[in-house]
Amino acid sequence: MKKLLFPGLLCAALLCAGPLAAAEPVEIIDIHTDDVSLLLAAAPDQAVSVLHFGGRITDPAPLKEYRSGRWPDYGTENLIYPTMGERNFREPALRVTHADGDLNTELRYVSHESRTLADANVTQTVVRMSDCVQALDVELRFTAYARENVISTHAVIRNREKGPVMLHSFYSSALPLEAESYLLTHLYGAWTREAQVDHTLLTHGTKSIQSTREVRTTHTENPAFLLTLGSRTFSEEYGEVVAGALAWSGNFRLNFEIDDSDVLNILAGANPFGSEYRLAKGESFTTPEMIYTHSYRGAGGASRNLHDWARNYGIWHGDTYAPTLLNSWEGAYFDFDARTLTAMIDDAAAMGLEMFVLDDGWFGNKYPRNDSRAGLGDWEVNRAKLPEGIDYIASYAHEKGLKFGIWIEPEMVNPNSELAHKHPDWVVRTPKRDAPQTRTQWLLDLSNPAVQDFVFGVFDRTMQLSDKIDYIKWDANRNANNVGSAWLPADEQSHFWIDYAQGFYKVMERIRAKYPDVLIQACASGGGRVEYGALRYFNEVWTSDNTEALSRARIQYGTSLFYPASVMGSHVSIVPNHQSGNITPIKFRFDMACAGRLGMELQPKQMTDQEKDFARQAIANYKEYRDLVMHGDLYRLGSPYDESGCYGLMYVAKDRRRAVLFTYCLRYQGRTQIPKFRLQGLDPETEYCIRELNVDKPRFWFDGKTFRGELLREAGINPQLSRLYDSGVFLLEAR
Ligand code: DGJ
Repeated sequence: MKKLLFPGLLCAALLCAGPLAAAEPVEIIDIHTDDVSLLLAAAPDQAVSVLHFGGRITDPAPLKEYRSGRWPDYGTENLIYPTMGERNFREPALRVTHADGDLNTELRYVSHESRTLADANVTQTVVRMSDCVQALDVELRFTAYARENVISTHAVIRNREKGPVMLHSFYSSALPLEAESYLLTHLYGAWTREAQVDHTLLTHGTKSIQSTREVRTTHTENPAFLLTLGSRTFSEEYGEVVAGALAWSGNFRLNFEIDDSDVLNILAGANPFGSEYRLAKGESFTTPEMIYTHSYRGAGGASRNLHDWARNYGIWHGDTYAPTLLNSWEGAYFDFDARTLTAMIDDAAAMGLEMFVLDDGWFGNKYPRNDSRAGLGDWEVNRAKLPEGIDYIASYAHEKGLKFGIWIEPEMVNPNSELAHKHPDWVVRTPKRDAPQTRTQWLLDLSNPAVQDFVFGVFDRTMQLSDKIDYIKWDANRNANNVGSAWLPADEQSHFWIDYAQGFYKVMERIRAKYPDVLIQACASGGGRVEYGALRYFNEVWTSDNTEALSRARIQYGTSLFYPASVMGSHVSIVPNHQSGNITPIKFRFDMACAGRLGMELQPKQMTDQEKDFARQAIANYKEYRDLVMHGDLYRLGSPYDESGCYGLMYVAKDRRRAVLFTYCLRYQGRTQIPKFRLQGLDPETEYCIRELNVDKPRFWFDGKTFRGELLREAGINPQLSRLYDSGVFLLEAR
């Protein structure tokens, strides 16, 4: 059944005209991309409702006549921004206490306008509404990205009342959908177990995905989802899927409510959790951006839309990517001097890597950073470890042909630091209560402009340590809890959650204005900041502190549902793995890491010569097909959760002339089970030559042979990956 959702235009006896008021000429607000339409119904002084979100309707005009027949006693129609009041029984997108104590809000259509931006692919539509009694305005701003089939939206709430208005809930968007069933796919997890995938068939009532941690929000849930409509089965290639992702680095909430009319109402935005926001007279509040897409090509189609949008619009310099790198963390931890680092740089250069990143431990003198218990906040070079300074190391890397990167964690402070003693009022805490420590550190109060200046200054001064700094790894190793701000007034403490995230963005704005080209990685104890709010300023994320290849299969798979491979830092580390203790072959570790932005995270001195030879070859091969991983279309072939234990993925060039296929055996299956991979995304008419990489000699019957795309799609190929941790990487090139 298709989604047609419309306001009943029935009786007129209310003080405000509204969704139930007498029929005025209805106008359709047509927001669309190449393949997706969002259609709103608007009439003067009436509520604005959603008619349709889904596949493109090129001529929506006849829908002006559409009537849903819904009885007003059972609640209002599918409002585009439901409020408390208005006979709306669903969770409201907006809940406020007006200046005079009035708890209700009834938004009425005022006007709308659309314009195409300088980039002709992008159209913006603004829909203006006002409360029918109070001087409160809401503007919904929609941005349609034609080619990527993405529509993003946010709200601006403006207070023209005589006094302050208290905002209790202020979601970015509401989206009603109607289908036979709703299968929700979303991520959950924890540190070193990020981006695990849950599939839940939604039932009547409410399901929420949220974070109340403010920082490191995406270790656990991620503010993104897929909804398979009308089918109870998740499919990569078939069926109708709506996907959403919130661009917000603070607390978030996605609310899925199926009501008595079987409509699913999605609310997405900053979490109302403890976040009452007093909006002074004359002020306005802008919500985070919510990004939606729709596809009839299953989860894969929705992911590809999001990836395209992200690379073109959602990620800072999304058309670029970080080079291959050696990161010092798991190889040296806090224990290094200049000789340790220059030796690592030599080894990195010899293996063909393109950048060296100096991780934690390079700073602090009075409180030297020799472990995680001291020094955070004191950002001057540790003279005992690195008397030669950072420029010496950076210059050494550049001389060897490598770029240079360095780690900072500017939002945090150890109690054992000069900073903590100097500025106790900068710590997030409540007077008279303990400030709980996590990893022996506290959080700095980014709602405070002085702290914003400090954090900007940490970045700025670090960049001054050498003119050869190409990359910054920005870490954040704790959440916010027991929050309190010495900066915010007592009656605005609940602003902390919003103001912290906005303070973070203010700092990033300044950094990007001054340093547009430096590469910045968002790391938050691994994958704690994997979301499109941060990615507006960052080039990539550290996907997880778990570098173990088997665990990585699931972490990278989950991340790939919403985020492109170009942002996924994926590093090869030593065995036994420092997190899991697992031992996997070097080939398996490389074949897994090469499906993202490849790096290494180990002490090369601990590698055997054979391992180094293999690394050199695998890195050289990666450079040959890296453009596909970074910019190609992703096709997931099964999932690492499949019973078969075999899983594959491929990246296909936009012109379908080349592709790279990754295949893995994650579970021993016995000798009778030969996996088969039916390839996707290729041109059926084109002949492709298949070549296996990262091996000494051909292993499989199809290696070096040429096949039509049609055959590869229908019959597939069957690499004999029957042993645990077998893997294969195949390059396909059109003849
Ligand atoms: C957590 C990060 O995720 C690691 O990669 C490393 O940078 C450590 N912090 C350093 O303290």
